[in-house]
Amino acid sequence: QNQSTVSITVVGASGDLAKKKIFPALFALYYEDCLPEHFTIYGYSRSKMTDVELRNMVSKTLTCRIDKRANCGEKMEEFLKRCFYHSGQYDSQEHFTELDKKLKEHEAGRISNRLFYLSIPPNIFVDAVKCASSSASSVNGWTRVIVEKPFGRDSETSAALTKSLKQYLEEDQIFRIDHYLGKELVENLSVLRFSNLIFEPLWSRQYIRNVQFIFSEDFGTEGRGGYFDHYGIIRDIMQNHLLQILALFAMETPVSLDAEDIRNEKNVMKEYIPIQVKVLRSMRPIQMEDVVIGQYKSHTKGGVTHPGYTDDKTVPKDSLTPTFAAAALFIDNARWDGVPFLMKAGKALHTRRAEIRVQFRHVPGNLYNRNTGCDLDKATNELVIRVQPDEAIYLKINNKVPGLGMRLDRSNLNLLYSARYSKEIPDAYERLLLDAIEGERRLFIRSDELDAAWSLFTPLLKEIEEKKRIPEYYPYGSRGPVGAHYLAAKHKVQWGDMSLDQ
Ligand code: BG6
Repeated sequence: QNQSTVSITVVGASGDLAKKKIFPALFALYYEDCLPEHFTIYGYSRSKMTDVELRNMVSKTLTCRIDKRANCGEKMEEFLKRCFYHSGQYDSQEHFTELDKKLKEHEAGRISNRLFYLSIPPNIFVDAVKCASSSASSVNGWTRVIVEKPFGRDSETSAALTKSLKQYLEEDQIFRIDHYLGKELVENLSVLRFSNLIFEPLWSRQYIRNVQFIFSEDFGTEGRGGYFDHYGIIRDIMQNHLLQILALFAMETPVSLDAEDIRNEKNVMKEYIPIQVKVLRSMRPIQMEDVVIGQYKSHTKGGVTHPGYTDDKTVPKDSLTPTFAAAALFIDNARWDGVPFLMKAGKALHTRRAEIRVQFRHVPGNLYNRNTGCDLDKATNELVIRVQPDEAIYLKINNKVPGLGMRLDRSNLNLLYSARYSKEIPDAYERLLLDAIEGERRLFIRSDELDAAWSLFTPLLKEIEEKKRIPEYYPYGSRGPVGAHYLAAKHKVQWGDMSLDQ
């Protein structure tokens, strides 16, 4: 171990993601002593910068967790001393060769392992991978590349990207990141289900009425209109983050926690198919009638005017790109036959939240319905996994109101993380970076999984775009288009986040 070293190169080091997420996550890992003894971090981008300038830039976004104030400043200094900068073009073999030389100096003859984090626009992915792999990969250790979405815009472009990447890398060198898979409560989903006797037996159409995956943000596309308009909310959130959570939720029990066993179970069908991939492949094609799209419009509240989506200068005035979408999905297998899986994702809504809601069926027979003030057909149990903010897991149950009478009300059995755990929750990028360094692929997307996700959404996206479907307009800061309620009602569902006792 002492003979090996890890060099982490953040390609696109001056970009937003690198500053806000990647460098802070690397520092947090360093602080927790999770990085190997010998490591070096290189920032690589086109801007001219010295090592000191990079360190200054990076230091602005490093933070200390509440529980580690003690020697945090010292640790930051130590960490920054291990950060360097190399300026170069993303498609220049020559510049990557220069980087290679510098990395070799730091590696000082040890076994060299190299991780490249591509935090750059998709149109330069392949060039950068080509140069990194041919001019700066390790000769005696591993070379891995983390790539961020977008992985194409549809099945075809995604397949073309995979094909190009595979000219230079083996599949097991490619780490496709979906940062939602690194979120604490998403990680906990399998623990909750598979290590508690009381959940797994209920995890099927027999007891579950519907499942909802909800993502909302209380801000618009501010500053990202150019990127966003090319993709829209379905590609930005549903096809990846929400679908990945759905696959983890709905997959069969994996044989083990091994990366390949889990991913096999996510993808459903035929011979040897990855578990998470199995689920994806048994999903019914999404019907346009089961989808609602929306776009936010300007709204004035309390004297403040919030801009509409097309008021953004980088967005064409006549853009029909959805900033909101709701969809009903179905999994055609024995476990989930007929259970609606509802997804809802939107920008510029009234609140910021990501959660999974599991609504259970009603209790058969109506023992308590009469004279107790409680309609058990309506007051069914609901399990909520709040991914963010204020991470929590709570279960809505019916309870007797204390007293001599017999009246029921709805209460929550509540596990609020901030009350239960004093430790701050690590950022998703910390877990994922550590996994990539350790070669743990469980939380990364394999290419067949990516294909399955695109096959599900590509026909829908084509229909929306080719037929120029008009989105339903909703005011900035509202609860989104009313069409989402009709969609839920059509499947005899009520959105859990809209009810008063949520
Ligand atoms: C990204 C999307 O993948 O996730 C953004 O491109 C979105 O549009 C972001 O804002 C949300 O991530 P988080 O971790 O802040 O919920």
